[in-house]
Amino acid sequence: MYPMIIQGGMGVGISNWVLANAVAREGYLGVVSGTVVDHVMVRRLADGDEGGHVRRAMESFPFPEVVSQVLERYFKPGGRADGEPYPNLPMFRQKMKKARLQVTALANFVEVTLAKEGHDGVVGVNLLTKVQMPNLASLYGAMLAEVDYVLMGAGIPREIPGVLDRFSRNEKASIRFDVAESEDYASEDLEFDPAEQFDGPLPALKRPKFLAIIASNSLATMLARKSTGKVDGFIIEAPTAGGHNAPPRGERRLNEEGEPLYGERDEVDLDKIARLGLPFWLAGGAGRKGRLQMALDAGATGIQVGTLFAYCDEAGTSESLKRRVIRQSLLGQVKIKTDGRASPTGFPFKVVELPQSISEPETYEQRTRVCDLGYLRTAYRTDKGGINYRCPAEPVETYVKKGGLEEDTVGRKCLCNALMSNLDRGQVRNGGASEKPLLTSGDDLEILGQFLNGRTSYTAADVLDYLLS
Ligand SMILES: Cc1cc2nc3c(=O)[nH]c(=O)nc-3n(C[C@H](O)[C@H](O)[C@H](O)COP(=O)(O)O)c2cc1C
Repeated sequence: MYPMIIQGGMGVGISNWVLANAVAREGYLGVVSGTVVDHVMVRRLADGDEGGHVRRAMESFPFPEVVSQVLERYFKPGGRADGEPYPNLPMFRQKMKKARLQVTALANFVEVTLAKEGHDGVVGVNLLTKVQMPNLASLYGAMLAEVDYVLMGAGIPREIPGVLDRFSRNEKASIRFDVAESEDYASEDLEFDPAEQFDGPLPALKRPKFLAIIASNSLATMLARKSTGKVDGFIIEAPTAGGHNAPPRGERRLNEEGEPLYGERDEVDLDKIARLGLPFWLAGGAGRKGRLQMALDAGATGIQVGTLFAYCDEAGTSESLKRRVIRQSLLGQVKIKTDGRASPTGFPFKVVELPQSISEPETYEQRTRVCDLGYLRTAYRTDKGGINYRCPAEPVETYVKKGGLEEDTVGRKCLCNALMSNLDRGQVRNGGASEKPLLTSGDDLEILGQFLNGRTSYTAADVLDYLLS
């Protein structure tokens, strides 16, 4: 039995354990975001771990010495002093110290454990294929918490099903590591060996179901046939969805506002998808009344919804941002832009145009570029044959020194830092100012006002009722 409604993974920290728990409790699939969740956990600890939730979940982590080290290093009873910056974890590279990978595994474990607490429902974890370096540690950590589903898009997750198979037997797994300007060299891998990373006996693990998030028939067919293990289903995501979107196929065309234009070639043929014989869910604009029935009529198992959940009481979005977006929605004044430049990944990214967020050109210009979280850095081969890392949102001069093109830096936004600010856990910079936020949502945000119907707050259960009505 598959769930009819999936609450989509929303990074960073928007689909947190509180939201996923609320959805799973109602009998649907609650999905936590595993992206950057290690920094989210460290910042919760630095803020005093209100309610003791992180520490409670840590008690069931099978490797207590890892927990002690993390708490000793990052937990601040009572929280940080005023204006004190958050501690940062080292930025990911191809090979990381054990302690760094352990924090990532532990953070995914904590998020999934809390999402599963107190009910028998199902919980998934969402990761982005393109954010390669933390993924193996994240998957293993989520599996230690008996995650039921893994959902991954933003790239081609062909190798992930095989990784899940291997991890379920506690075997070492590896995936190909993308290194630019590297044709003359042997291919590189990312590896994670559970027995090497953790001391002591490894617990028996189950293999979660794997759902690939895709936007084309060709990718679905390829993944169904050529993945390294079983793909259990597909989420078909339309370009109206929040977060990153697949780029349009064929020649790149923009509308007057500079947004990428999608056409007929971007439409997915659902009959063809159905013929693959695997369950599928429709995402992107599926959060409207009647859409669930339409999806079922088209042969889908159900829908995946993000935007409507992103501003409910349980979501990780900061209270002040929720209030601002809800107020503007009630006034019919929210605007979404598909920004082809904002994300360092190069994928189109849906941005909520909000004053004092870095969607605003003036606010963006005021930010001094700094790269200190580094999840969107990609690897490239240096002249000497080594591997180094760069991100087009880092300081322009540094990026160009690393062989990057200056034109690639234009309009790129530091999503790592901005998305942490969406949670009210933005880094404090010199002078005490916090990094500014950047919200993402799907085109459906425009119907939030209608859904609210005069309310100024709502719960995940309200969203589910609406979707089922
Ligand atoms: C705030 C927000 C963050 C998102 N982040 C992610 C993400 O980290 N990974 C992912 O696969 N999808 C992400 N998405 C997409 C959702 O999982 C979901 O597929 C999408 O929101 C469905 O379309 P809708 O926005 O029209 O409801 C995000 C969506 C939103 C609104």
